[in-house]
Amino acid sequence: MAVTNRDIIGRDYANDVDAIIDIARANDNPDEVIHTVVDNAEAIFTWNYDKGEREKLDRLYEKAKTSQWNATTDLDWSIEVDPRTALDLNMERALMGDFVDEPGSPVAKWGDDEWEEFGLQSIKWRLSQFLHGEQGALLCTAKIVETVPWIDAKYYAATQVVDEARHVEVFGRYLDEKLDGGYPVNPHLGLLLDDIINDSRWDMTYLGMQIMVEGLALAAFGFMHSVTEEPLLKKLLRYVMSDEARHVAFGVLSLAEVYQEMDAAEIRERQEFAFEAALRMRDRFLQQEVWEHMGIDTRQMVEFLLNAPEESKVFQRMLFSKIVPNCRKLGLLDAGDGWLRDRFTEIEVIEFEHLEDTGSEFIDYDLAEGDFDERSEEMQAAAAAAATPT
Ligand SMILES: [Fe+2]
Ligand SMILES: [Fe+2]
Repeated sequence: MAVTNRDIIGRDYANDVDAIIDIARANDNPDEVIHTVVDNAEAIFTWNYDKGEREKLDRLYEKAKTSQWNATTDLDWSIEVDPRTALDLNMERALMGDFVDEPGSPVAKWGDDEWEEFGLQSIKWRLSQFLHGEQGALLCTAKIVETVPWIDAKYYAATQVVDEARHVEVFGRYLDEKLDGGYPVNPHLGLLLDDIINDSRWDMTYLGMQIMVEGLALAAFGFMHSVTEEPLLKKLLRYVMSDEARHVAFGVLSLAEVYQEMDAAEIRERQEFAFEAALRMRDRFLQQEVWEHMGIDTRQMVEFLLNAPEESKVFQRMLFSKIVPNCRKLGLLDAGDGWLRDRFTEIEVIEFEHLEDTGSEFIDYDLAEGDFDERSEEMQAAAAAAATPT
């Protein structure tokens, strides 16, 4: 029997506003402190200790060992951040596009004060979701250490666990000390993280986390890094990105080998999982909690945003600029009858398929030997395009 949208994402239509809102309400538990997920997986020992058998993973591991940084001493936490002057709050309005000011928009009557408050909340919300995503990465990578059968991958994943602890630390500290706290985990992101952890197949952890969640994070960090002038946040993002690019490369290099051995039915399940993850992340960026905070009818706003003109969705699309080429590199776009290509075409992100994949570009992000300027220029151009409504 054919798998339907309902099987994959729990609703028939990707843009079903009621379902999107219901998910948010069903998971609305802001007082939760401990959240438990069943981690279906076997811990695997390998008695094959041949280091370097997987040469590319071994190189990543060696690179990771010499690329560690210390969040406490390498960042200047004494920098004072007045979010209303240090952060570009107008950018958040610009990213929405001109159409939000038109009659019929739920925020058409907003003045500069509301937009400034929205800008502040939006940045707090976004950094909070990065924080929660980083904790997801910490748990997922610890799981990969247990479940992956290759020694080179266990070694590398162990370094990523340390990286992710550091990322949780820096985002948590920035939110706490500089922005006076953040938001709880967004329900769409929370569901996705639960699904990734819950899956018993070890390669699905990689696909969900290293390819989808971290791929999106790498694009989003790049965007924020290129637009912010706040020196602490800028440096923090630059450091995190140098690690994150390795993480995505780890996913691409590992899965390229695994997928070669899979049959069509198994690959199709991976395509479906990639689509589910993509949609959950798109839904997350509707940032319902921020609209709610601002006293806006969330249902009306979500519907309004989903029906936004194409040209105003540049930012949302840009978030997929790493995911799509990496899925292409892994053969997921065109496997079978090109099922994932069709889905990515429907949600309008297929345009990125020919950008460079992260399996080869990660070194550009390296702190010591990367050609980051070139990457940075590309990201600035993307940011400018996103912020300039056409
Ligand atoms: Fe991270
Ligand atoms: Fe990561």
